[in-house]
Amino acid sequence: IQKKLGSTNIILVGMMGAGKTTIGKALASSLDKEFVDSDHEIQERTGVKIPVIFEIEGEAGFRKRESEALLELSQKRNIILATGGGAILNPENRQLLKRSGIVIYLRASVNDLYRRTRHDKNRPLLQTQNLYARLNELYVQRDALYRETAHVIIDSGKQGVRFLVQKLINKL
Ligand code: S3P
Repeated sequence: IQKKLGSTNIILVGMMGAGKTTIGKALASSLDKEFVDSDHEIQERTGVKIPVIFEIEGEAGFRKRESEALLELSQKRNIILATGGGAILNPENRQLLKRSGIVIYLRASVNDLYRRTRHDKNRPLLQTQNLYARLNELYVQRDALYRETAHVIIDSGKQGVRFLVQKLINKL
């Protein structure tokens, strides 16, 4: 599989809490590729955490930084790229990601997303009284965009990381 993939990038898209970072890291070590995370990159560059960027520049400011980061990271080869959940909102980003490697939509149900993000303080879009409704709203807005961008769709469900990584590798 490593031989077949060569230096092809693998790009993970999906909702907050779908497991992009966890699966991405495991995939990177299985396939011997470098793991890169766009949110992490943005934080490194600005020297502040994502919520601070939202606070100072609003979501629009963050999206601009995100698009810039994706443009740069997509120049790389042989990486596993975990994108932020909203990366696919911008049509140019969708085109860019699609052209830069194999895009995988890590799909999870709203119930699972809720369970995984319940105590999260680092995602500005999820700081709300009604988290379930918020996640559902984002899911409804975005599911079609993830599907449109992805070459492969995989259900993250309740399975463990090792199982999911194996399932994914079998699909590549
Ligand atoms: C966002 C997802 C976050 C981060 C930001 C906005 C979104 O990334 O980019 O808080 O709009 O879905 P993760 O998907 O890695 O949590």
